Amino acid sequence: MIGKTFASSAASAALALTTTLAFAQAPAAHLTIQANQPTHAVSPTLYGLMTEEINYSYDGGLYAEMVRNRNFLGDWSGFPYWYLVENGNAAAKMDEDRTTGPSKARPNSLRLDVQQASRANPAGVLNVGWWGMALHADTTYHGSFYAKALDGIGPVTVSLVGNDSGKTLATTTVSGVGAAWQQFHFTLKTGAIAASSDNHLVLAVGHPGTLWLSLVSLFPPTYRNTPNGTRIDLMEKLAAMHPSFLRFPGGNYLEGNHIKDRFEWKKTIGPLVDRPGHPSPWRYMSTDGMGLLEFLDWCQDLHMQPVLAVYAGYSLEQEHVDPGPALEPYVQDALDEIQYVTGDTSTKWGAERAKDGHPAPFKLTYVEIGNEDFFDRSGSYEGRYQQFYKAIKAKYPTLQLISTAPLKNFKPDVLDEHFYVRATQNFQDATHYDKTDRNGPKIFVGEWATREGAPTPNMGGALGDAAWMTGLERNSDIVIMASYAPLFVNVDPGGMQWETDLIGYNALHSYGSPSYYAQVMFASYLGDHTLSASLSGAGPKFFFSVTRSAGKKQIYLKLVNADSTPQLVDIDLKGAGVDPSAKLVSMSAKDTQATNSINDPDFLVPGDSTVPDAGGHLHHHMPPYSIQVLVFQEK
Ligand code: AHR
Repeated sequence: MIGKTFASSAASAALALTTTLAFAQAPAAHLTIQANQPTHAVSPTLYGLMTEEINYSYDGGLYAEMVRNRNFLGDWSGFPYWYLVENGNAAAKMDEDRTTGPSKARPNSLRLDVQQASRANPAGVLNVGWWGMALHADTTYHGSFYAKALDGIGPVTVSLVGNDSGKTLATTTVSGVGAAWQQFHFTLKTGAIAASSDNHLVLAVGHPGTLWLSLVSLFPPTYRNTPNGTRIDLMEKLAAMHPSFLRFPGGNYLEGNHIKDRFEWKKTIGPLVDRPGHPSPWRYMSTDGMGLLEFLDWCQDLHMQPVLAVYAGYSLEQEHVDPGPALEPYVQDALDEIQYVTGDTSTKWGAERAKDGHPAPFKLTYVEIGNEDFFDRSGSYEGRYQQFYKAIKAKYPTLQLISTAPLKNFKPDVLDEHFYVRATQNFQDATHYDKTDRNGPKIFVGEWATREGAPTPNMGGALGDAAWMTGLERNSDIVIMASYAPLFVNVDPGGMQWETDLIGYNALHSYGSPSYYAQVMFASYLGDHTLSASLSGAGPKFFFSVTRSAGKKQIYLKLVNADSTPQLVDIDLKGAGVDPSAKLVSMSAKDTQATNSINDPDFLVPGDSTVPDAGGHLHHHMPPYSIQVLVFQEK
């Protein structure tokens, strides 16, 4: 028997045994693959990432900043996530001071008036972080703050402290705070501590006086040690998806609820102190610490090409800018943005990018004009798209311009289509693009997901996703790019605005959903062309896709059995000699509800094994609820 199944969890192993006993009754499907009959090229950019500030994706997520509300935005309660510290007989009060700040973008600050404090009994403020502050043993944390002081307030002690123990886990002293605003840098190093996120940051003084603080920041080690960088665990998870592109900055986040709340890229570049931040339509403020250059760095780090979405004159509360002269400043803004990304240092915005630390231009092929403009009830998108198109093509004729809604009188280069569906819809719709007009625009499935499970999808979602992806691969002559959305969710209470997100995390840990692993499987084994294949006898919940890599001389057969019963598949591989054994990557579950979570991150993960006697003909047993990839090596 060659249809051995395996998965790393005990649950899946037990299931494999049960299903083996039931195989005898299963009617076999017949799949014939013509390995010497390529059908079309697979888009090399098929799988990528879509991202925006939602579910605390950047702030409280990928962006590794540990301090929450670092800019001291106040509300009725004071400064959320900041508390006054008065040790022993120390006495102090904190307030928002709107009359002084370190920059135009940061016109306010926290003012700490210390009436009484000593070295033994300091007074100060503490920050609780993004649902805690994750600390690891023997690790260096890099921080900074802006400050000024009156009355010789003395040195500021900065410490990381355990919430329950009250124990100081790392501490340092910053001297030299004077009457003018200045930025101070510090490092904090932990010793032999247990990893935990039950910690907070304290800034305290041991002398009466007045201290103003702004932009208090603390970073752990980041991916590739980039300053102002990203979380290592999340970047590693993304890297395993082999993404070829990054669509940014949204999504609704590009548009904002109102025009004034759009993603204004010029306010997201340069020193952090010059970035005012702005409201995300997902009901919280964005620091814009993840600004345009950080998105591009992210692309560079993971070898992805940017798919740059430019604001196109429509915001979510039905605000729009009419095509014509009123739209011109927005078109110019997009042209400037493209120049910031691609221009050399002799250009105005290319020079600005160099000043921001990245002299080399980025390669750009795709620019998306807006987001989901079919929601614009004014009907202005047709005109807005064409105005952007003409202006951008005049300067950058090779750029491919993506439309976010079908157009009546104009053929865009690429059309972005979005699908948020249940698994049953994806089972019925896996053939969605089989009959799409090949003379129409190319298709970018810029957002898609099977919405089953929260906060992250379960196995039912993964099966719907896998079925859908077989259709994307089969039609990857026309579907040139596809990206799941949303990508991230902070699973702490209040972290989620949108259910069913690919990767979950808290301050300390992260995990991939079954849908995440389905994507890892599909993107890791993708050929450069599809092969002719025919299927008979399979049930309605069986799906497949077959591609071949000419370079690696490998054939990748993806199989999805979304049914509750096992599926027997007789596979005939014709037109190529292959090694007698094949690699099998498999993920299966005992029911569709099975899932991973922050407390059980590896309940469902794919497992690898070898299938002997796989050459030419294979009698393959698929367990219920399974997603598999067979890798055949040509001789
Ligand atoms: O992915 C969540 C939201 O869904 C996106 O912001 C928007 O483009 C779509 O409606």
